[in-house]
Amino acid sequence: MPELPNRQILLRRRPTGLVAPDDTELVTTPAPQLAEGEALLRTTYVGLDAAVRTWLNDQPGYLPPVQLGEVIRAAGIGEVVQTRCDAFAIGDVVTTLSGFQEYVIIRDDVFSTPVPPSDATDQLAVMSVFGPTGATAYIGMVDVGVPQPGETAVVSAAAGATGSIAGQIAKIAGARVVGIAGGPEKCRAVVEDFGFDACIDYKNEDVAAALKQHCPKRVDVYFDNVGGPILDAVLGRLAQNARVVLCGVISSYLTGEHPGPTNYVNLLAKTARMQGFNALDQWGRFDEAYAALRKWGDDGLLSHRETVFDGIGSCVDALNGLFTGANIGKTLVKLSEPSAN
Ligand SMILES: NC(=O)c1ccc[n+]([C@@H]2O[C@H](COP(=O)([O-])OP(=O)(O)OC[C@H]3O[C@@H](n4cnc5c(N)ncnc54)[C@H](OP(=O)(O)O)[C@@H]3O)[C@@H](O)[C@H]2O)c1
Repeated sequence: MPELPNRQILLRRRPTGLVAPDDTELVTTPAPQLAEGEALLRTTYVGLDAAVRTWLNDQPGYLPPVQLGEVIRAAGIGEVVQTRCDAFAIGDVVTTLSGFQEYVIIRDDVFSTPVPPSDATDQLAVMSVFGPTGATAYIGMVDVGVPQPGETAVVSAAAGATGSIAGQIAKIAGARVVGIAGGPEKCRAVVEDFGFDACIDYKNEDVAAALKQHCPKRVDVYFDNVGGPILDAVLGRLAQNARVVLCGVISSYLTGEHPGPTNYVNLLAKTARMQGFNALDQWGRFDEAYAALRKWGDDGLLSHRETVFDGIGSCVDALNGLFTGANIGKTLVKLSEPSAN
């Protein structure tokens, strides 16, 4: 086999705040040779999740921290270009933990999932809705939020990858859905593209006052992606027996500080429940989630958008963009051309 150059982004220094240029290094190494039971994937898109930034801290999490000198870990999708593994044939489209690199070894394990041929022609949709991001929104909203017809659901980071899908799922369940997002362009997308009933611009509005206006019957389900003052404001507006879904705390990932909400006392007064979830714990139910999401997609009930950066050199900018709010929908970096598109 001819040697394939593999550009990779390595972690060189643990960032404080946003990832700085000197925190990482772009290197070129030969793509690895295959052992028996392995296949080589050419990465087409890397998907950016807020969790990628948490893996750069020297703190234990549900996955170990990325070590200095290692490729930065991230989810991705690609196409099999070499194989010595019965599970993968040349040309198969597979989602995996590709990391910030152009080629990655995959094996027949829990991290690498073949994409059905019916979905393989739209890799952007797999990454933004018919894959793990969609499954996260599904499990959080369906299992923990449990929205009912006529209820009011609120979703933060509503223009983002997880929030935009979570809100649409609540809408499908028959709830009135109010988003919270930063800036007029995002709020317009939340209503016009993702079909929410209203959207609060937390950068330009008083969130507590706007919740009062847009949620006259209070909030039955809150799908929280951000924590901090926005969580506190929504806790102040809960309805009786409300469910608060703790999906993520992006407002504190850069600082590592988690200011406690003062309005938590409303959980008592409103006999409400606040529950976290980790979608990966529900891995065994992802197929159920994909089937439901696919059906809603086929029925025209789910919209998705992507913010696509170009080339491996833009991976760090794309990651930082999650924290500066640069994205609408799923953030992806295109590393190579999908052959099926
Ligand atoms: N529990 C799980 O299993 C699980 C799995 C995957 C993801 N998550 C969580 O889901 C959340 C969303 O992740 P994602 O990957 O879908 O990202 P995303 O929503 O596509 O992008 C992140 C968005 O967060 C908003 N944001 C950033 N800093 C903020 C701040 N200080 N205050 C308020 N909003 C802020 C920005 O939107 P604005 O411009 O609107 O501020 C940004 O676009 C994250 O908290 C992530 O950790 C949880």
